[in-house]
Amino acid sequence: MVTVPRSKKASLSRGAQAAPDSIDLADPGFWRLSAAEQAAAFARLRQLGPPAYFVERPRSLFRAERGFHALVRHADVVAASRTPEVFRSAPGVTTPEPARWVRALFGDSMVNLDDPGHARLRRVVSRAFTPRLIARVEDDIRAVAERIVDDVIAHRPDDFVTSVAAELPFQVICSMMGIPEDRRPAILAEVNHASEHTGVQRPFRRRIRLPGRGLRALARMQGMVADLGRERRRRPTDDLISALVIADVDGRALSYRQLGAFFSLLLVAGVETTRNALAHGLHLLTEHPDQRALLLADPDGRLDGAVDEIIRCATPIIQFRRTVATDHTLGRAQLARGEKVVLFYGSANRDEEVFTAPDAFDITRRPNPHLGFGGGGPHFCLGAPLARQEMKALYRELFTRLPELRSVGGPELVPSSFDHRVRSLRFTF
Ligand code: HEM
Repeated sequence: MVTVPRSKKASLSRGAQAAPDSIDLADPGFWRLSAAEQAAAFARLRQLGPPAYFVERPRSLFRAERGFHALVRHADVVAASRTPEVFRSAPGVTTPEPARWVRALFGDSMVNLDDPGHARLRRVVSRAFTPRLIARVEDDIRAVAERIVDDVIAHRPDDFVTSVAAELPFQVICSMMGIPEDRRPAILAEVNHASEHTGVQRPFRRRIRLPGRGLRALARMQGMVADLGRERRRRPTDDLISALVIADVDGRALSYRQLGAFFSLLLVAGVETTRNALAHGLHLLTEHPDQRALLLADPDGRLDGAVDEIIRCATPIIQFRRTVATDHTLGRAQLARGEKVVLFYGSANRDEEVFTAPDAFDITRRPNPHLGFGGGGPHFCLGAPLARQEMKALYRELFTRLPELRSVGGPELVPSSFDHRVRSLRFTF
């Protein structure tokens, strides 16, 4: 395995377990290692007793050095996810945390809230994900999948990511929300700007300029959605924006600012993740012809298992973090109030204590208690049923009409500590 420089251990917190010298999850260089090298490092970390502690370099001269305990085992990620009174989501679950002024300006994303604020917001936005609403979008999903495959056959594009994988989740979320077709291209352009650089290490000079661009894109996108919210409050229709801005029987509704924040979250959480999962899935099925043959022989019987195994192997979201609210013992780890823990979903999904032959891609795996959608608890992915449905509909349409469909070469990956992002994937049929 490639050795990456180890950051200073001087400030290891009380009771923290030092990481092996050759592994540094806080070093951006780690996320540029190959997938096999990263997997080997996580396998080593899982063998340690308590979670290892990593020191982060100060991000500016004015910021103190910080660090995190890496939760790499399935049981630890589940425990932290399901004990929200100890493992808090405020002030932020992403790295870096959103700045306070950004949160004040754009409103808090629900992933960064704790109860009771989180529960209140989740109750309102759950209206978008009732089984009745999901069943209603089923026809939409099928129609979008059909149109995408029509276009693929007509235009024979090269890149699976832009022409197939990104298109479906974006169109589905827009039609669920009730975004008119003519406003979608402008919104998509802003989404791409806003999410382009999450978790990606950039040269220092560009680091200063690009967040400004991303935030301006976010502001424009939220502005467009807030305008729609105002229109719908005046003239409601049967779409989701109307449902969210009009108060229910208990008087609960979203403000325009909350509507903008929720829509941004849906796009960033629901488009990127599903798109990356779809692309990784095509590549996995190409690399494992035996599994592909199993799926094609019985799509109805195998699609559910295939989708969950793709999510397990690809783990579109690598990590979220939590802040420890009170001194706490997790397994053999002593955690102090105020410390950070990082939940590494991909590592949990390869925990040999839970999964037999964890490195095998096996669409018949049962049970498959992967943590690709989170470890359970109050923040468990709201869109999991929708994502599963979209992936099944698209693969069904693709493999039924184009049974020779395969990826060509490997995916072009974007090195990131946040998500397993695929920039492009060539394909043929
Ligand atoms: C393959 C696709 C997807 C993956 C892998 C994924 C993964 C995740 C993960 C890991 C979390 C955090 C869970 C936690 O902290 O416990 C999350 C939260 C969330 N996801 Fe997804 N997601 C996917 C698709 C979607 C879609 C399609 C939507 C909506 C359209 C969506 C909406 C959300 C929302 C709203 C949250 C925040 C829930 C909360 O904080 O209460 N996700 N997702």
